Amino acid sequence: MNKFFITTPIYYINDIPHIGHTCTTVAADVVARLHRAKGEEVFFLTGTDEHGQKVAETAQKEGLEVKAYCDKISPRFEEAWKKLDISFDFFIRTTDPRHEKVVAEVLQKIYDKGDVYKAKYEGLYCVGCEKFLTESELVDNHCGLHPPEKTVFKSEENWFFKLSKYVPEIIKLIENDKTNYIYPIGKKLEILAKLKSGVKDVSISRENVEWGIPTPWDKSQTVYVWFDALINYYSATQFVEGKKDFWPADLHLLGKEILWFHTVIWQAMLLSAEISLPKKTYTHSFYMIDGQKMSKSLGNVISPQQLVDLFGVEESKYLIVRSFPSENDSDVGINRFKEKYNADLANNLGNLVSRVAKLAEGQKTEEEKIEFDNEFEELINNLKLDEAFELVFNKYVDASNLKLNQTSPWKLEKENPERIAVLNECIKNIRKAAFHLQILMPKVAEKIENCFKNEVKPLSESLFPRIK
Ligand code: MSP
Repeated sequence: MNKFFITTPIYYINDIPHIGHTCTTVAADVVARLHRAKGEEVFFLTGTDEHGQKVAETAQKEGLEVKAYCDKISPRFEEAWKKLDISFDFFIRTTDPRHEKVVAEVLQKIYDKGDVYKAKYEGLYCVGCEKFLTESELVDNHCGLHPPEKTVFKSEENWFFKLSKYVPEIIKLIENDKTNYIYPIGKKLEILAKLKSGVKDVSISRENVEWGIPTPWDKSQTVYVWFDALINYYSATQFVEGKKDFWPADLHLLGKEILWFHTVIWQAMLLSAEISLPKKTYTHSFYMIDGQKMSKSLGNVISPQQLVDLFGVEESKYLIVRSFPSENDSDVGINRFKEKYNADLANNLGNLVSRVAKLAEGQKTEEEKIEFDNEFEELINNLKLDEAFELVFNKYVDASNLKLNQTSPWKLEKENPERIAVLNECIKNIRKAAFHLQILMPKVAEKIENCFKNEVKPLSESLFPRIK
């Protein structure tokens, strides 16, 4: 059986889940479900990133011991994904001793290879990003992604990883395009340009951050949180039972702010430790809320729970996917979600299903083998999620509505063959729509299928009540 291993970033637990985290997780869920539906054996991994200065500081502010804080917040992510019916197979926490052990092993390999040296480093560090900032990342002398107070000056003696040593090899990998590992193409060009403009080595340990995994060869320092976090993708395959064969990962999903870590640093670490490289990374853009960056200080953060309360579980996932920030940032907001819900789900799909089910009540239907549309599959595999479901709506839902409106079968007698034929055609299309929707809205898809299986039964209640 073909194996497919897909991951989301592991989320920092200084925050509670918002729709930014949710869009990556839902995207991974849709891709995972497609691969399962195609009969593949899937390993879908997500989890939380729990070490480092940022988490330690947040715990301190809350007056909690750090591990106790992690134990309190990490389940909120797991529960949020369960509430959304996300089909993850394992939820990893970087404070899991089994993960910590693999981190120590991988780092030791890198050290034994001679790829680590001690040096002094000074510079501006963003606690929000958990990284030293480069000149080009500075806006008014602080990180452009986080509030100014998150940028601090640091002068430390750290262990460094010879990232620069692996740059020629990584450039070659990208240029030969054998691994095809950076998607979409724009990101690949961005990384290539950055690699060619000169790359410095990176520190791999922290002198003054206690909350981390001790550096195996120097217990006075802790492993830099990003080195610890990236290894989660590999460590899970090593300690979760029966998952060893899933490495290398088929697809890492991530947001654009962590592209460098996932397409350069991670590859260099693996090359150094002589572990095979992941096959593909897909990088998406960001959600903006009504034209603004989503941030706690602006108070405009939307949580998945808020969407679920308003629209329901599967409906929320639909809205997320239809506004998925693929190549460009995507502007969303509660009002826009409402409009989309009413237009697509209540007025279009919901209305069609209830009309056809009522008109064709009692009509016998045939069993037909439905397969995924090729174009749909390709769009999903390229993470063009919005376009993929737009295609389903155009091809099956809109086409049926058009047919109904053009032929007005309700004006014909129940037994009229023309009426039966039109309704049969609509039923076939609706069942095809439901078949494709199973990877996004499995319960809705099942309800629709039940309504048309063997004999048409009208719906007992509307699929998607209109929302004011
Ligand atoms: N812990 C690191 C990742 C380590 S992976 C080895 C991290 N965590 S995070 O909590 O900040 O989550 C970052 C991810 O959340 C992004 O890569 C993206 O997937 C998602 N998003 C966070 N904000 C987002 C938006 N506003 N819009 C879309 N997705 C965004 O970085």
